[in-house]
Amino acid sequence: MFAATLLCQILLATAALAIPTSRDRLSARVARRDAASFTHQSQPNQPVEAASVAEPVAEVNAVTNATDAKVVHSTNWAGAVLSEKTATYKTVTGTFVVPHPKEPSGGSGRHSSAAWVGIDGASCGHAILQTGVDFNVNGSSVSYNAWYEWFPAPAHDFTGISFKAGDHVTVAVTATSKTSGKATITNKSTGKTVSHTFTGQKALCEENAEWIVEDFSVNGSLVPFANFGKVEFTDATATTLKGKAVGPAGATLWDLVKSGKVVTKSSTGNREVTISYVG
Ligand SMILES: *[C@@H]1O[C@H](CO)[C@@H](O)[C@H](O)[C@H]1NC(C)=O
Ligand SMILES: *[C@@H]1O[C@H](CO)[C@@H](O)[C@H](O)[C@H]1NC(C)=O
Ligand SMILES: *[C@@H]1O[C@H](CO)[C@@H](O)[C@H](O)[C@H]1NC(C)=O
Ligand SMILES: *[C@@H]1O[C@H](CO)[C@@H](O)[C@H](O)[C@H]1NC(C)=O
Repeated sequence: MFAATLLCQILLATAALAIPTSRDRLSARVARRDAASFTHQSQPNQPVEAASVAEPVAEVNAVTNATDAKVVHSTNWAGAVLSEKTATYKTVTGTFVVPHPKEPSGGSGRHSSAAWVGIDGASCGHAILQTGVDFNVNGSSVSYNAWYEWFPAPAHDFTGISFKAGDHVTVAVTATSKTSGKATITNKSTGKTVSHTFTGQKALCEENAEWIVEDFSVNGSLVPFANFGKVEFTDATATTLKGKAVGPAGATLWDLVKSGKVVTKSSTGNREVTISYVG
C-alpha cells in the first residue's frame, strides 16, 4: 500500500513538473479550426492533486497487484503511458473503432472527447507528437475531426478524411528525429490514409509513448467532456529507437477525474488499451 501511494506521489510530482508554464500555454492559444472558429489543443496531462479527488486513497488502496498500483488521476488524460528516463520511443500506433459520443447524464450542449496516440507529454511535458480523432456531440448532432499536433504548436485538422461511428481507424506517429516526424491516420475499411510530416518542431524527449482519451482544450479551457462510451486501442504498439516493438501491458494507467469523480476506467493487455467511460 505504501509503495503504491509513494509511486502515485512520485508520478504526480514528476508529471506536475512537466506541465508547461502559463506563458507556454498562452502562446499555444492559436486558432486551429478556421472554418468552425473553434480552437482546439490537445495538452500535456494535468494530474489531479490527490487532495482534490474524492477518494484518491481508496482508489490507490484498492490495489491488489502491481498493474493496478500504477493508476494516476488526471483532469484531461485517460489511458496508458509508457515512460522511460532516457530517449526510447520512436513510433506509437493503435487501431480503434470510432464510438458514437453522447452527452453525459444531465449534460446538454456541445461535448467532446478525443482519442489519440503520441510521444511525450507525461514525464516530458514540453513537447508532444500526436494524432487522433475528436468526437463531438451536441444534441442529436455528432461530428468527428481527425487532427495532428506537435505541442506546443496547435492542432490542425486533416482534410480529405471523414468518419462515422463504427469505422476502424489506425492512428500512428513516428519521430524521425527529436524535432521531426510524421502523423498518419488510416481508414482500415478502405485503406485511405492521410498524413502530415513535421520538421523543425520543439524537441521531444522520446521518453513517453501513450494511448489516450482526452478532454482537450478550446482556447485554453477544457471542453465539456463527452461520454465516449468505450475506446479500445488494438494492435497497440510502440517501437523503440533500437527497433524493438513493445506493448502497453506494463504502462501506467491514467484515469480522468471530473468534479472529484473518476469518470473513466483504463486497462491494458499485451497489445490493447481499453478506456471506458464510467461517469
Ligand atoms: C476561441 O478564440 C477564437 C479567437 O479569439 C474565437 O474566434 C472563438 O470564438 C473562440 N471559441 C470559443 C469556443 O470560445
Ligand atoms: C492483476 O490485475 C489485473 C487487472 O485487474 C488482473 O487481470 C490480474 O488477474 C491481477 N493479477 C493478480 C495476480 O492479482
Ligand atoms: C448546439 O446545438 C444548439 C441547438 O441546435 C445550438 O443552438 C448551439 O449553437 C450548438 N452549440 C455548438 C457549440 O455548436
Ligand atoms: C472508411 O471506409 C468506410 C467504408 O468504405 C466508409 O464508410 C467510412 O466513411 C470511411 N471512413 C473514413 C475515416 O474515411
